[in-house]
Amino acid sequence: MNILFLIGSPRKKSSASCYFARILKFFLTLGRFGKIKVEIAEIPPKAAPDIMTKLAAADKVVIFTPLYCDGMPSHVISFLQQAEIFCRQNPCSFDFYAVCNNGFIEGRQNEACLNQYQCFCQKTGVNWCGGMGIGGGEMLHFLAKVYPFVFLFFIVLFVIGLFKGYSDKFALSQLAEEIGVYLFFTWYCYFSLARVAAKIANGKTLKKNIYSRAFVPAIIFMFFASIFMCLGSLLNGRIIFTLLGKDKTPAPKQI
Ligand SMILES: Cc1cc2nc3c(=O)[nH]c(=O)nc-3n(C[C@H](O)[C@H](O)[C@H](O)COP(=O)(O)O)c2cc1C
Repeated sequence: MNILFLIGSPRKKSSASCYFARILKFFLTLGRFGKIKVEIAEIPPKAAPDIMTKLAAADKVVIFTPLYCDGMPSHVISFLQQAEIFCRQNPCSFDFYAVCNNGFIEGRQNEACLNQYQCFCQKTGVNWCGGMGIGGGEMLHFLAKVYPFVFLFFIVLFVIGLFKGYSDKFALSQLAEEIGVYLFFTWYCYFSLARVAAKIANGKTLKKNIYSRAFVPAIIFMFFASIFMCLGSLLNGRIIFTLLGKDKTPAPKQI
């Protein structure tokens, strides 16, 4: 079975979309070596003739996109327009799934975007098999980047202890605690992706779209997400340099 994963985030490989694609690929290929071939391709900003050829050869296509202003990124819209023309002129008989992730915590906010993909399928004549919306995509991706270093830190601490001739119980218990915290936040998303993977592998349609999220109460999410956004803006120089920088707008002419 040939499965094509399309990454529709402008952030490409460093995107949350690509991270979710890798997890889904892991679940899809788990225990099915050789039976399922998954290729990951990025949707380019302009014309995509290579991807069109891949579309024609694929049994299943899964598109991964971020939610931008309750819709899909603009380059994905133009890609879908090209794909629509291509699939009308060439035989395309793939099953189409979509996985959208958004910054806010509610995965259901992706519903409108998933409906747009369904409309694309109806217009193009390919088989819409359902979608998944992941809330807190940015948070889940951030945790996946940071936590391996936290785990490594306590493993190194434990190993140093062993070299010094004692078993560092504090490092071990901290490591177990951090793994627990990580799994607590992420289990629901992993579980939902595993459900989608099972449906894809068994050639089934999702009866309803699946909505998932980072497993954290919205109020706590909002508090930390606000701090995260402010710090991100500060580190990118957008707040400090824009607010405190010199105003370069030319002064209006005096009449
Ligand atoms: C231009 C822009 C518009 C966005 N609009 C929304 C939105 O309407 N709702 C939302 O929850 N998140 C929104 N986000 C946040 C992204 O969906 C979120 O950061 C996502 O995890 C990015 O995924 P990626 O890394 O795959 O690009 C927006 C982000 C950008 C840059």
